[in-house]
Amino acid sequence: MAAPGDSWATWLAGRSSEHRARGLWRTRRSRVPGAVLDFAGNDYLGLAGDPRLAEAQAEGARHYGAGGRASHLVSGHLAVHEALEHRLATLTGRPAALLFSTGYMANLGTLQALCDSDTRVFQDRLNHASLIDGARLAGARSRRFHHGDLGDLERLLARAADDGRRLVVSDGVFSMDGDVADIAGLAATSTRHGAWLMVDDAHGLGVLGEAGDGCVGRAHGIERVPVLVGTLGKALGSAGAFVTGSQALIDHLIQFARPYIYTTAQPPGVAATTLKALELLEAEPERRDRLHTRIRRFRKEAATLGLPLAASSTPIQPLVLGDSQRVMCWAAWLAERGMAVGAIREPTVPRGQARLRITLSAAHTDADLDALLEVLADCSTRDAIAEGEAIS
Ligand SMILES: Cc1ncc(COP(=O)(O)O)c(C=O)c1O
Repeated sequence: MAAPGDSWATWLAGRSSEHRARGLWRTRRSRVPGAVLDFAGNDYLGLAGDPRLAEAQAEGARHYGAGGRASHLVSGHLAVHEALEHRLATLTGRPAALLFSTGYMANLGTLQALCDSDTRVFQDRLNHASLIDGARLAGARSRRFHHGDLGDLERLLARAADDGRRLVVSDGVFSMDGDVADIAGLAATSTRHGAWLMVDDAHGLGVLGEAGDGCVGRAHGIERVPVLVGTLGKALGSAGAFVTGSQALIDHLIQFARPYIYTTAQPPGVAATTLKALELLEAEPERRDRLHTRIRRFRKEAATLGLPLAASSTPIQPLVLGDSQRVMCWAAWLAERGMAVGAIREPTVPRGQARLRITLSAAHTDADLDALLEVLADCSTRDAIAEGEAIS
């Protein structure tokens, strides 16, 4: 007779070997900051390692205590959280904001609280997993439109029965492609069909917009984008996320967003870190300028080398190689030379579109970029040789 639990062991082994056989097995490598040249992270402004943020975190912990203690609705909501929410609402030009522990939870919580089986949700095909999962959690009726295709969205909205609330959902900057959504077009289409628009600007906040307020921010007010999400663990170098919009929206989320209600408040030192990052975002606009100069230079020189970069003007610069094994080879060659890049495969991106996700930061120097371009040129040569050997 099989021992209890044997079927679980068999199932685990089967899933693992199937995943390995498809070249999709993922591994973690523990890293020491600074040991490799990092072109994989989301620290676009180079704030994550800034000693002023570390000091703000320590000071926040000394003042308020290190732990979150309780959920916001019990006794975990502190003055520092409140101050941060006000600051985030001001940055994005909206009346109110609500802090979440992570971007994943902000998206889950917002969609779960706004949607139910009477809601029709229309999502860009390349939206982040947390947006897709949030609509599933809510039991909403979801449709996905072709990436960035307003005509397809229009068609889906026009065909859908007009029998309840409608929500159009899009990333602001697409996390694996780096392109920016047409916010004005999405807003106009949504309004025409009586839908609200929700944008997750995780990768635009801090990087785009006049004041680093993102691709939505103050340029597209609450009447165009009633639900705006931003994350704090990317360009702002801290952690957490927020939703911003009308006071009525925020009040609703406080009452009904389960990933907000049933979790411990963010540690106050983290909120203090983010406040410091926002201060630096305003005081040091040259970080954004430096970043955009690096992006332009990288694209120009990569084009000269004939590297197949996707069209992107943001710090996310995907080099689409197609095949998962090929992406893993390039990532390994880069690692041999002390460089980390993201090796992105399905299911994160569609099959056949595996890519190196190269990310740039204001913290990179010109010499760092020179080194990256040199190694990418080498990878391209090695790849051509390997391909030639495979054919002959
Ligand atoms: C578009 C987008 N939304 C949300 C998230 C989740 O944010 P967090 O890492 O804070 O959970 C990410 C991060 O990976 C993202 O890329």
